Amino acid sequence: MTRRAGIIGYPVGHSLSPVFQQAAFAHSGLDVVYERWETPLPDLPARVAALRAPDVLGANVTVPHKEHVIPLLDEVGGLAARAGAVNTIVNRDGRLFGFNTDGPGFVAALRQEAFFEPGGRAFLLLGAGGAARGIALALLEARAAAVDIWNRTPERAAVLARDLGAPARALADLPPLAGYDCLVNCTTVGMKGGPDPEGLPCPLDSAGSGLLVVDIVYAPRVTPLLRAAAARGLRTLGGLPMLIYQGALAFELWTGLPAPVDVMVRAAENELARREGAAR
Ligand code: ATR
Repeated sequence: MTRRAGIIGYPVGHSLSPVFQQAAFAHSGLDVVYERWETPLPDLPARVAALRAPDVLGANVTVPHKEHVIPLLDEVGGLAARAGAVNTIVNRDGRLFGFNTDGPGFVAALRQEAFFEPGGRAFLLLGAGGAARGIALALLEARAAAVDIWNRTPERAAVLARDLGAPARALADLPPLAGYDCLVNCTTVGMKGGPDPEGLPCPLDSAGSGLLVVDIVYAPRVTPLLRAAAARGLRTLGGLPMLIYQGALAFELWTGLPAPVDVMVRAAENELARREGAAR
């Protein structure tokens, strides 16, 4: 029996998940088709109910449905419940389980791709949306020493820090970077098609030489922030590894098999390069 998985969101036409998940299934010798399930909000209950069919492994969930799917599921894992967001649904014998692999995917990318252990380290997060929330939670779970959050709209940072509790805290002003081990851009500044594609989410003048600069934006692969950081000789990590590792963790939840991460990275990089070439 050919089985199915897919991504639920609106829109999903540009999602990279079908590209690298299909590559992972093929590499693992699994007869699975990964589909794009574009779903306007009124269709979400029916779409999620359809995941209970015996041939469906599960789904990824993306913008704008990560919160909306929660009441439609049978069980939601602890981290997903605390994040208030589900990005992975697993169908086990007709019961639907919700997980959040975004934050754990970020931490896995830090460890595997940047060789950076978050435990005991001081982080500055820029942004206070859903992406920042998932990452901050995973960093607290990984025992980061400090998770400071700055946002253009300070009230949102304050709400997020209050929800998270210590050692997370909100900063009203951008601090000097010298006291941090890792800076993470969780805003959409620098994103292709975003509000400020050429912009920097913060200046890097005060960075110490040991700072790791992470951008969760993956299109373009080298954002203005990453370019500025590299020009200063700082270590950098782009957003693609986080995307891949959240998908790899989802693959492992669906299949019980280790995800072929290298195969997934290569498939995603080829597709991004193809798109960047096509855009020129
Ligand atoms: P997500 O769920 O992907 O994190 P979001 O909730 O829309 O998306 O959050 C986007 C983040 O980018 C927010 O932190 C937003 O700041 P505000 O809360 O002040 O809106 C930030 N952001 C978006 N455009 C920005 C800009 N031009 N300058 C600075 N921050 C910006």
